[in-house]
Amino acid sequence: MVTGGGHLTAVPAVAFRSVTKAFGPVEVLHGVTFDIGSGEIHALIGENGAGKSTLMKILGGYQPQSSGEIVLDGQPVTFRSSREAEAQGVVLIHQEFNLADDLSVAQNVFLGRELGGALLDDTGMNRQAQAALARLDVQLDPRMRVRDLSVPQKQLVEIAKALSRNARVLVMDEPTATLTRRETDVLFALIRRLRDDGVTVLYISHKLDEVQALADAVTVLRDGAVVFSGPAAGRTPHDLANLMVGRELEEMFPDKGRPTRTEALHVGGLDVPGWAHDITFTLQAGEVLGFAGLVGAGRTELFEGLLGLRRHTVRQVRVAGRPTRIDSPGRAARAGVVYLSEDRKGKGLLVNALLRPNLTLMTLQQYARPLLDIRAETRALERAVTTYGVRTGRLDVPASALSGGNQQKLALARILEVDPDVIVLDEPTRGVDVGAKREIYLLIQALAQAGKGVIVISSELTELLGLCQRLLVVREGRVAGDLSGDELTEQEVIQYATGLKARAPALEAAPR
Ligand SMILES: Nc1ncnc2c1ncn2[C@@H]1O[C@H](COP(=O)(O)OP(=O)(O)OP(=O)(O)O)[C@@H](O)[C@H]1O
Ligand SMILES: [Mg+2]
Repeated sequence: MVTGGGHLTAVPAVAFRSVTKAFGPVEVLHGVTFDIGSGEIHALIGENGAGKSTLMKILGGYQPQSSGEIVLDGQPVTFRSSREAEAQGVVLIHQEFNLADDLSVAQNVFLGRELGGALLDDTGMNRQAQAALARLDVQLDPRMRVRDLSVPQKQLVEIAKALSRNARVLVMDEPTATLTRRETDVLFALIRRLRDDGVTVLYISHKLDEVQALADAVTVLRDGAVVFSGPAAGRTPHDLANLMVGRELEEMFPDKGRPTRTEALHVGGLDVPGWAHDITFTLQAGEVLGFAGLVGAGRTELFEGLLGLRRHTVRQVRVAGRPTRIDSPGRAARAGVVYLSEDRKGKGLLVNALLRPNLTLMTLQQYARPLLDIRAETRALERAVTTYGVRTGRLDVPASALSGGNQQKLALARILEVDPDVIVLDEPTRGVDVGAKREIYLLIQALAQAGKGVIVISSELTELLGLCQRLLVVREGRVAGDLSGDELTEQEVIQYATGLKARAPALEAAPR
């Protein structure tokens, strides 16, 4: 049996030999060569756009390399499709989910290899899907439509789907980006069990503490080339970050500014049936206000309600002091409130459209005079690409050609095009590399300093604590805690999030 150390077998499970990949004239992988030991957990890290997902899609048979070779257990292989790769035990869990929205959870788990003959064995598939989810400690009705799942639930279904395929080489592209710590712990335990059963796991993550905790070996890609490949032991998250960016990183969080006494947003008595109850809060201009809580606590749904994306009732909304009715994201934007959705694929970007319309979609009127002013749009895109550090070879590509983290930056650039008073960011740094994360933190701080009110929803507690002047902790659809100053500690947040502590009913939240 192969144990933790990896590299005990002479023949690597996977070997990349001078793999290159070009999209049109742009080469994004330049002769990538490294080995993955059989039965090891091998982390692949690198900045946004470094080429991690591209390399893994090549391994998984989703796209061909331009040149070079992939060697599996000593045998050169060519996969013309993901089906061929799966037949050899190479299974990929996608960064951007690859689920069919209109099918049920069970149908997705079994997609392409349904049980039963002419008649599908739905009962059997439901039962086995439930068992696959139970391994992940997930309670989910396998008959539910994927469309109706939350983003973390989709992620868990995606993982269950891959696990039920009996992988020999399992590739996970940022599987924990949307998971809570508890879900992550369950997943890690499972990954270690798989490793002990001889499965080789390739693991992509921007969470470098996870990489340190989990990986036997690590490979660092920088701009499409390998800059390090070797044992992970003794490498701190800080070392890994420096390897990724090729220089010493500065302090992660900028200094917190101070809120003004001017009200940016007031929400009174918001109800989102099934999700949020009697939510009342005030955001000051210049304030960075965080919403903490466990995944499923209703934070996203609360704001989807406020923005008119879900059925809701509300007693009062004021934006910059003006009583306002918001019943759609478009109206909200005109009233000065913009929202960055946590689900950039489902509700954020039009992945098949070009970067330009994606950026200016919300502000089209501005560019229509009377015909769409393509040149002004292009200038806006050039500006946004520089300001937010969107890494792309060319500007005339669809959003789907951007790496995951760079799509996130584009989504952020888009909502800021409207010059809002209030900015609501749901998981703003999901999938974003350490360097770019810091840039987004600086940007958030700069927005607050410019007098905007900023709301951040994040499942990364360190991020909320490092960034926000005040935190509202949501538990079961209600504001359970309101923390600032010295109370801003992990301990406090967890106690409120889990119900160990509850706040005395504040005046603001008094019954109607
Ligand atoms: N279909 C495509 N057409 C053109 N360029 C592409 C395409 N897919 C990826 N690229 C480019 O290849 C480069 C590598 O992208 P990739 O998605 O592999 O990055 P990544 O390392 O996974 O980044 P992230 O951490 O943001 O997920 C990027 O510059 C990206 O824009
Ligand atoms: Mg990627």
